[in-house]
Amino acid sequence: MKSMPATFYVNGVRRDLLVDPNALLFEILSDDLGHSGVHRNCDRGDCGICTVLVDGEPVLSCLMLAVEARERQITTIEGLAKGAELHPLQKEFVEKGAVQCGYCTPAMILTAKALLDHNPRPTKEEVKNGLSGTLCRCTGYVKIVEAVLAAAEGGK
Ligand code: FES
Ligand code: FES
Repeated sequence: MKSMPATFYVNGVRRDLLVDPNALLFEILSDDLGHSGVHRNCDRGDCGICTVLVDGEPVLSCLMLAVEARERQITTIEGLAKGAELHPLQKEFVEKGAVQCGYCTPAMILTAKALLDHNPRPTKEEVKNGLSGTLCRCTGYVKIVEAVLAAAEGGK
């Protein structure tokens, strides 16, 4: 199918691309724009590993067409740190030992960011529920939940 021009705002930067109307959001972020922190696993909406934020809300980039994200604000894990300063969630994930293989970590942190943006002081249950759509094969989730609660306590 013929490619079409499309504008995206990725981590605050305008990106003008020619996109296949059938291209997935994952494909333009990872393959075209080189955001290696956007991971992929099941490709069918089951694992949550491919989560990015579009206009601040978590979306599965393996299911969303890139053209659906035209003219919208997309956030990947590369967009959270401010220079050398890690985002509070990133700091707490490291400090609490919530990162093992790291494959789920970008999706977990972005999902947690959206959760805390809506609910800055979540309960443990709310954090567990909020992250339940993203699979982690390594940590058993306990340290991930602790890290999110610690970031919330820090007022972020
Ligand atoms: S790779 Fe998108 S939900 Fe699994
Ligand atoms: S840290 Fe390995 S999948 Fe979550």
